[in-house]
Amino acid sequence: MLILNKTAGVFFKPSKRKIYEYLRSFNFHPGKVFLHKLVLGIETSCDDTAAAVVDETGNVWGEAIHSQTEVHLKTGGIIPPVAQQLHRENIQRIVQEALSVSKISPSELSAIATTIKPGLALSLGVGLSFSLQLVDQLKKPFIPIHHMEAHALTIRLTNKVEFPFLVLLISGGHCLLALVRGVSDFLLLGKSLDIAPGDMLDKVARRLSLIKHPECSTMSGGKAIEHLAKQGNKLHFDFKPPMQRAKNCDFSFSGLQHVVDKTITQKEKEEGTFIISKVGQINNPGFCLKMPVCSVGIEKGQLLSSAADIAAAVQHTTACHIAKRTHRAILFCKQRNFLSESNAVLVVSGGVASNLYIRKALEIVTNATQCTLLCPPPRLCTDNGVMIAWNGIERLRAGLGILYDTEGIRYEPKCPLGVDISKEVGEAAIKVPPLKMKI
Ligand code: KG4
Ligand code: ZN
Repeated sequence: MLILNKTAGVFFKPSKRKIYEYLRSFNFHPGKVFLHKLVLGIETSCDDTAAAVVDETGNVWGEAIHSQTEVHLKTGGIIPPVAQQLHRENIQRIVQEALSVSKISPSELSAIATTIKPGLALSLGVGLSFSLQLVDQLKKPFIPIHHMEAHALTIRLTNKVEFPFLVLLISGGHCLLALVRGVSDFLLLGKSLDIAPGDMLDKVARRLSLIKHPECSTMSGGKAIEHLAKQGNKLHFDFKPPMQRAKNCDFSFSGLQHVVDKTITQKEKEEGTFIISKVGQINNPGFCLKMPVCSVGIEKGQLLSSAADIAAAVQHTTACHIAKRTHRAILFCKQRNFLSESNAVLVVSGGVASNLYIRKALEIVTNATQCTLLCPPPRLCTDNGVMIAWNGIERLRAGLGILYDTEGIRYEPKCPLGVDISKEVGEAAIKVPPLKMKI
């Protein structure tokens, strides 16, 4: 179909979406005729209530999201019953908004896809029970979605990426390296043995009271660290990368968090003593030593003068740790011929993937190993409804996990991704050649 642009006097080829909208203006609904697949995706696994309608060409017809970040920032972390309540309050409106922006009647949907694993039980429950009601009402097939699978496949919506590819998922709740061999075919190469990098950065940011910093008050912890790090000197603190001796692809961040925590406590004492003696109220070091730590240290909420240096150093160590484990995963996959020789792809996603410093560290690794580094745009790196709908499309196309009867379906707060071969990766004990991390 060509449309004549009257002002320019030329014909142009409209997008599929424009054609559908044009046909609809005559009350013609092409959905069942040639718009084969259209999926509504619903996400409530953590602290975002999100929904989107996506078609099989990757067109996003409508999307809506309600983020709870601001509320959780104030309480210093996610409180599950609060997250649940906020999902309950918003889910109907968010799904309605995604549908109405898309101008698609629910009857035109091919299926409804919803995150049912892994995540916070109370949050997953809201999305699942809402979706099951909708599925029942609309008589549509239901596609249960694994949240990490959705993160991993998002890149295929924005870029032409064939299987297999390597994926690194780094966020507040996840940290894993996996080989993606197909829509539902994953080999898990490594994961965090404790907390995720975003969680660690959030904790450090809270410990540094960055919420009180005028430039960072509305930012997530990780973003605040990245922002402040630009003003700091990473060489002022030497935080060692974790797990240097373990020749596997697992991660660890809680040890680093404790070391940073201890450094902050030390700095608070030093700066507090300095502040007190500077104003001349207490000039006797002996007196200071006898006082409880809190009255010697700087006040809670006050910013350390070395906060930017600490942020820069912790970001650098995090980047080096992530880069090294990823480097080993690439070498392992190459050794086993798991990745294409000529076009090996590393996909990085999750909230922490929007950190440009960490991306640069990964770029150094992919350049050294002749891989292509791909990241979805930031809005698709963090939790969203589009990735869930797209995962639904991928599953519809592959004919995998489409349910016509939802009897007995449950959410699963804990659920590993794919087949875990991390032990085999460790046994291969691949030595990673040193790379200069000049970022
Ligand atoms: O993917 P996401 O929205 O939610 C899940 O955790 O699943 O990721 C949020 C996490 C938070 O921990 C946040 O601090 C971190 O991603 N984050 C960042 C940046 N932006 C968000 N970490 C480092 N640098 C950033 N620029
Ligand atoms: Zn996520």
